[in-house]
Amino acid sequence: MNITVHIVNLRNILFLERLEKFQEWFKSFGHLIRTWIGPVCAVHVANADHAQTILSSNVNIEKCFQYSFGRLWLGNCLTLAASENWFEKRNLLTHAFHATVLNDFFDTMLKNCQILMKSLEKEADLDEFDIFPHISDCTVNTVAETAMNIKPNAESRLDAEYPKNLHEFSDLLWKRILNPLVYLNFMYAVTEDYKKVMKVITELKRMSLKVIKQRMVERKIESAVSEKANNTSFGRQKYKAVLDLLLDRHDEGKYPLTLEEIREEVDDFMFAGSDPLTLTISMTIYLIGHHPEVQDKIHAELDSLFPFEDSSLNVQTLAKLKYLDCAIKETMRLYPPVPFIARSLKEPVILDNHIIPRGTTVAIHIHAIHRSPEFYSNPDKFDPSNFFPENEENRHPFAYIPFSGGPRNCIGFKFAKMEIKTALALFFKKYEVKSTTPIEDLSMFTEIFQKPENGIMVKIRRRH
Ligand code: HEM
Repeated sequence: MNITVHIVNLRNILFLERLEKFQEWFKSFGHLIRTWIGPVCAVHVANADHAQTILSSNVNIEKCFQYSFGRLWLGNCLTLAASENWFEKRNLLTHAFHATVLNDFFDTMLKNCQILMKSLEKEADLDEFDIFPHISDCTVNTVAETAMNIKPNAESRLDAEYPKNLHEFSDLLWKRILNPLVYLNFMYAVTEDYKKVMKVITELKRMSLKVIKQRMVERKIESAVSEKANNTSFGRQKYKAVLDLLLDRHDEGKYPLTLEEIREEVDDFMFAGSDPLTLTISMTIYLIGHHPEVQDKIHAELDSLFPFEDSSLNVQTLAKLKYLDCAIKETMRLYPPVPFIARSLKEPVILDNHIIPRGTTVAIHIHAIHRSPEFYSNPDKFDPSNFFPENEENRHPFAYIPFSGGPRNCIGFKFAKMEIKTALALFFKKYEVKSTTPIEDLSMFTEIFQKPENGIMVKIRRRH
């Protein structure tokens, strides 16, 4: 084994250059690297075989220690759950994403995407603008409506400050992850950031508890009304939002969830769902806005399958948009919203003849695996043909893992694909896009989720 000692400037690794730095290191030292940040050791993996070994395991599903900083807000939610109580939670919440439920979610997605298209009209045929906040409004509202059963304009609607607080929490969480000096709770508790984070968390909790309590009142009214109507005229409820699924459990009384536990799960869905959707939709628009030949093909595909603006889009048409699908996958290959994930090993693994002991933190660098020349001949180039069936069929199953892989993969991945495709189908049916920031000048922040530092600047033009 080659042992090379590099003492590096922490600021370089920890801030903007982080992903590029790791990509450089993987090129120089191979796809298995060990780092020490202060006393904290981690093994970094950029190899599809190694990712498969770790992520396919039913035992190595424990998140690493740094995830626990999120517990201040999200408690023991699905994303942060320790392996002992993860299985039961996952089983319960999987019902919220069953195929039939997803089809019912489609109407909500379509409605919110139509609102997005309307909000973009005021920007059309004008100068450049940042499309990111428009997309963010749409995804936050869609996840809120499907997860919490919040109807826009209802009394229980989500506070307009919620997304702002969500982002602030994410920034502060990432700041702590990068600073081993505040890993211990008693050290963190004396910092200014602790005061800030507790203020944000108090607000976030207040907002979602308000929504949950309001929903409990509505459920009582709904149930009284439906009893009166003898349960006949109302038919099947279109879908059960995650919140209703959890409140059913609360009402049933067996393994009852407390209100606080219910809040943790719905807030987790808001946190885990909204930002990655926003990034994927915005980045796909941005990359296609730099590739007119790809845009022409997408317009042609949409026009052939979906002749009139939004009226004829349905789940079946969505499934037929194959080229759009390839462009979305290619975007998520180049800009995976969650660039890396980490596990704490519960049992040792062998990687490249090295025994990695129990208790080690292993970071899986999705962004680096996705740019490996072993799987993609021109890895930095945007090329949707990478996902044509003939190019995909013999590829390593872990060469493309934007939603992670194995038992602890993203529970919302089918939901995400549907929402992303709906938004993009409506967008490209209606608009033509030109991206104004050159790709080489696009600066991405690396946090828990990747984010564009200066927004996504585009010009859009109505097609018809
Ligand atoms: C483009 C969209 C999305 C991407 C790229 C994405 C990616 C991921 C990844 C990589 C993980 C694994 C995290 C880890 O192991 O640390 C994950 C987990 C998770 N995701 Fe997503 N996600 C997306 C959308 C969503 C949506 C829309 C929801 C819910 C509405 C969601 C809910 C979750 C939850 C709850 C987990 C934790 C699962 C568990 O631990 O069992 N995600 N996601």
